[in-house]
Amino acid sequence: MSEYVVVTGASRGLGLAICRDILDSGMSVVALSRTYSTELQKLVASKPELCHFVEADLADLEHIPALCKSIVKTFGRPYGLVNNAAVGHDGVLATMPNGVIDSLMRLNVQSPMLLSKYLLRSMLLNRKGRVINISSIIAKTGFNGLSVYAASKAALEGFSKSLAREVGKAGITVNCVAPGYMQTDMTGDLQGEKLASIKRRSPLGKLASVEDAAAMVSFLLSDKGSAITGTVMTVDAGSTA
Ligand SMILES: NC(=O)c1ccc[n+]([C@@H]2O[C@H](COP(=O)([O-])OP(=O)(O)OC[C@H]3O[C@@H](n4cnc5c(N)ncnc54)[C@H](OP(=O)(O)O)[C@@H]3O)[C@@H](O)[C@H]2O)c1
Repeated sequence: MSEYVVVTGASRGLGLAICRDILDSGMSVVALSRTYSTELQKLVASKPELCHFVEADLADLEHIPALCKSIVKTFGRPYGLVNNAAVGHDGVLATMPNGVIDSLMRLNVQSPMLLSKYLLRSMLLNRKGRVINISSIIAKTGFNGLSVYAASKAALEGFSKSLAREVGKAGITVNCVAPGYMQTDMTGDLQGEKLASIKRRSPLGKLASVEDAAAMVSFLLSDKGSAITGTVMTVDAGSTA
């Protein structure tokens, strides 16, 4: 298979858009999620040589080492990793069940760390590679009801900066992309006046789309992104300006 990128949370939303954009750029994709959605099936069918689905529950941390080993064995050494899968449970902290906090931190923080750990080994051997972690503007702005989610994204940003220092010498870049609100299943509840007020806060009077954020991911993956590392690229239609 040609040079490929592992994309997590590929069944819908931003992850699916990232897969589409990477395939358009001519690279291959190994798409990970729990469900093999109709949209992802269509994408794989449109480029069967370049796009492959691997079923994985990434909250199941114990299986990540074996998963990475099998990906490398089947497809060869990856060029890049996009840690996109996440959950965005909202709720005030005082009443949030501890199990929810635990599972959110496992999927949003520990699984990207472990996937990076096990897939970076191949990139270190190749002496090139890209790790892109999908954060959120909420890591820095804060949002009522999203304190645990915000903490998970801030953790990813801190992780990325230090990891960039660790692996830079091997020609590997590590960055975050921080989207603003995009209309996906994760933000399905956001409608009416709440949605309108978010749009009003943007100087451009609109939300960023999943395609806008995916384009930034593709840029970082490309040769043009080779001098960018240890940073956070915001794609939010200016709402934090
Ligand atoms: N939407 C926004 O406004 C927004 C804003 C800023 C940042 N973000 C970030 O952008 C990324 C994508 O968000 P989205 O809006 O596209 O979310 P989404 O529509 O809810 O999609 C989430 C993806 O993650 C996968 N996933 C969830 N749990 C998983 C698990 N245990 N194991 C493997 N995969 C799992 C889902 O696939 P399965 O259910 O099939 O496993 C799905 O493909 C996330 O990191 C999110 O925090 C989103």
